[in-house]
Amino acid sequence: MADDRTYTACVVGLSGIGAGRPNVDGDHGMGHVMPNCHVPAYAQLPFTEVVGVCDLKEDLVQDTLKDWSGTFPGLRGFADYREMLETCKPDILSVVTSDHRHADIVVDAVEAGVRGIYCEKPIATSLADADRMIAAVESRNVPMTINHTRRWGAVYREVKKLLDDSAIGALKRIVLNFGGPRAILFRNGTHMIDMTCFLAGSEPAWVFAELDEGYEDYWPYQGDGGRNADLEPGCSGFIHFKNGVRAFYNGSKGRECRGGYQLDGTDGWMFVYEDYYELDTGNGIQTIAPKGPTHYYSAAAVRDLVHVMEHGGETISPPRAARDTLEIILGFLASQKHGNVRIDFPLDEHAV
Ligand SMILES: NC(=O)c1ccc[n+]([C@@H]2O[C@H](COP(=O)([O-])OP(=O)(O)OC[C@H]3O[C@@H](n4cnc5c(N)ncnc54)[C@H](O)[C@@H]3O)[C@@H](O)[C@H]2O)c1
Repeated sequence: MADDRTYTACVVGLSGIGAGRPNVDGDHGMGHVMPNCHVPAYAQLPFTEVVGVCDLKEDLVQDTLKDWSGTFPGLRGFADYREMLETCKPDILSVVTSDHRHADIVVDAVEAGVRGIYCEKPIATSLADADRMIAAVESRNVPMTINHTRRWGAVYREVKKLLDDSAIGALKRIVLNFGGPRAILFRNGTHMIDMTCFLAGSEPAWVFAELDEGYEDYWPYQGDGGRNADLEPGCSGFIHFKNGVRAFYNGSKGRECRGGYQLDGTDGWMFVYEDYYELDTGNGIQTIAPKGPTHYYSAAAVRDLVHVMEHGGETISPPRAARDTLEIILGFLASQKHGNVRIDFPLDEHAV
């Protein structure tokens, strides 16, 4: 990767996660700039330059130009993403629109000739949308990464390596705890379910679930893109993976709980938190805090995307993995709808 801002990027969707100013006082393990958002991530990397930003809201476009034109002198603002793609012809597009507004933009971006896509999570809110996004990027070999942030985190990467090295023997069970008012399935639960799949190291085979009270008839997605937590349920859900790993998603709304993942193997266990993990293989509990970023990984996501653009292969958070997560979420809804029954995959969302 060259150090000369070789790759041009555009960003569509300019709320905080799209274009938020970095917290220059924070020490988040990735240097001076806190690259938790898209524009700051490109600013932090020496080989990317943001040339265009777009939002339907004119004030957000103007704010972004004001904040970032010093960093990116040629930066232009747009209200129409198609016009931005046509004018700027970016190498990379960041899609940072609401949860249910990713698909058309990704499909149009591929058509316009972008070489890489960094798309927010969840990939979509219906499998039909996810499938047309995947079909588009695969038809032109355009790498896409979905911002399930934890995949780039030091703790999760170290834990994954330990699992792959059989440090606790064969992984058998995962219990994931997630609570509080934003323990909602699509917008936030997607992170936790994605990490569960990543740790399980397999594809989901079937699920069953009970949604939170008041959401008994919740099918299909009825949210507003993720802002209003009342429009999405929490859930207690069981996932059976093809490799036999069993996972329990303990993710109801309500009181905050201590979040994390308990991993039980044949020879030991781990408990994984955001910035450290505990490991016990029979010789007492070790508490380990790996060095490196613990929460905000957008620059790492872009670096990984560019690496795949240059060398081929698959991003750390590929779209088919994000589709597995969406299938689990929709499977939970389908289970509830049919009386909390087992839902075998592949899920036919049109038959639910
Ligand atoms: N990875 C993370 O940790 C993280 C954190 C926060 C949000 N997100 C994700 O980022 C995305 C955006 O979240 P949000 O809370 O900012 O959503 P939001 O709905 O509040 O804002 C989205 C922005 O996109 C704009 N937009 C929508 N459609 C557009 C279009 N066709 N053209 C141009 N602009 C358009 C809207 O005007 C709005 O300003 C969501 O998918 C969300 O899940 C991820």
